[in-house]
Amino acid sequence: MSKTKVVYACQQCGRQQTKWSGRCPDCGEWNTLAEEVLQAKGAQPTASLGADVPRPIGTIGGDAAPRIACGLAELDRILGGGVVVGSVTLLGGDPGIGKSTLLLQFANLVAQAGHKVLYVTAEESALQIKLRADRLGAGSDRLYLLCETGLESIKTHVEKLKPSFVIVDSIQTLASPEIPSAAGSVSQVRECASQLMYLAKRGGVCLFLIGHVTKDGSLAGPRTLEHLVDTVLYFEGDRYQSYRIIRAVKNRFGSTNEVGIFEMTGTGLSEVKNPSAYLLGQGGRGIPGTVVIPALVGTRSLLVEVQALTTKTSYGVPTRRVSGADFNRVCMLLAVLEKRVGLHLGIHDVFVNVVGGIFVDEPTADLGIAVAIASSFRDRATPPRTVFVGEVGLGGEVRGGAQLASRLQEAARMGFEKAILAADCLKGLDVLPRGIEAVEVKTVAQTLDLVL
Ligand code: TYD
Ligand code: MG
Repeated sequence: MSKTKVVYACQQCGRQQTKWSGRCPDCGEWNTLAEEVLQAKGAQPTASLGADVPRPIGTIGGDAAPRIACGLAELDRILGGGVVVGSVTLLGGDPGIGKSTLLLQFANLVAQAGHKVLYVTAEESALQIKLRADRLGAGSDRLYLLCETGLESIKTHVEKLKPSFVIVDSIQTLASPEIPSAAGSVSQVRECASQLMYLAKRGGVCLFLIGHVTKDGSLAGPRTLEHLVDTVLYFEGDRYQSYRIIRAVKNRFGSTNEVGIFEMTGTGLSEVKNPSAYLLGQGGRGIPGTVVIPALVGTRSLLVEVQALTTKTSYGVPTRRVSGADFNRVCMLLAVLEKRVGLHLGIHDVFVNVVGGIFVDEPTADLGIAVAIASSFRDRATPPRTVFVGEVGLGGEVRGGAQLASRLQEAARMGFEKAILAADCLKGLDVLPRGIEAVEVKTVAQTLDLVL
């Protein structure tokens, strides 16, 4: 008999402690600690990944990690140019958002490209998956389906079938007999994931794990998985609307902050070819408080709309609400507008929103946000077809902007004609994209005189 130990694990953040308490000291949630029995044996795979010996770094093959692209350009890009062989990816999202749909489509595409794929469904019946597959046109004969919740049996099938891809839908419904706690508990999820990962790394299998998200947006229980896996993708969007966003929050083989935009159609998810057009939408232009900025999202530039609304405070303390941008940065911009431009925002509620579910946290968005706030405050719209690029300093000065060329190209492609930017940042740029006129500014006050 192996030795067992009882711990209390938070089902929200994964914290473990020896005593029960009503509130998790780490994440602050109430009633999330549950008793789990840990077994000394089986908690970690004991065998090593291979018989490796220390080698000089220069003698290690310099080739980039081999990747397999599936052909869905948006998905390949968020993965950093395709799936790295032997990597483990966690896909999180609300129920019904389209996780199973996306990975079934993905499975079929790589199967059609000649790779053997095993889709393990621990939630739905084979018939349910088959009906979905028919709808998606996923019928490759290299795509295998397995309905199983037992970890041991899945491991045996993976070893026998030797697939290049294994997709587990979902990790919270798997259970290992070695762990006495229920499926979905922190120790079960961690044990199942680490055993599958070990199998994947040893056999060069690309492993995809689907995980559910709790109401507050964190991956339920398996937050501890985030540091085990190579890539963490979040599927977001309103399931009553057709657009979906996939965000890479961690990627050992590519850029994070990368975003892929999809549309849910009658035949599965299709990539949105012109994301700037989707993000800008139809309305907004010509309304005071609305400004367009070319933002760097992951490795590409996208045009996003920043909206601000200022209203006189009715109850003593002014409210500030920010979504899609950094709260502290917006507070700093409010102080700059108050002190350097003389806008009395201290007696106004301020709301700032970045449209389309994109989070803009780069300083280069400062100028656009400041102009949006001032535009709403003065109730005057900014000129049409104009974008704003630049970081705002505490003195009210406007500075630089990384990757200006790609931002201006995207603005020109979307039919914008004028870019308002820092006086010094055009130096590094060889040519301006056709159709874009650059207007150089030195301070926020000067910008506002120019456009409002
Ligand atoms: P699903 O992929 O099962 O979501 P998850 O695995 O994240 O829980 O289902 C997503 C939703 O998408 C479901 O409500 C039905 C809908 N859907 C379509 O609109 N078109 C399609 O082609 C498919 C397969 C599903
Ligand atoms: Mg599903």
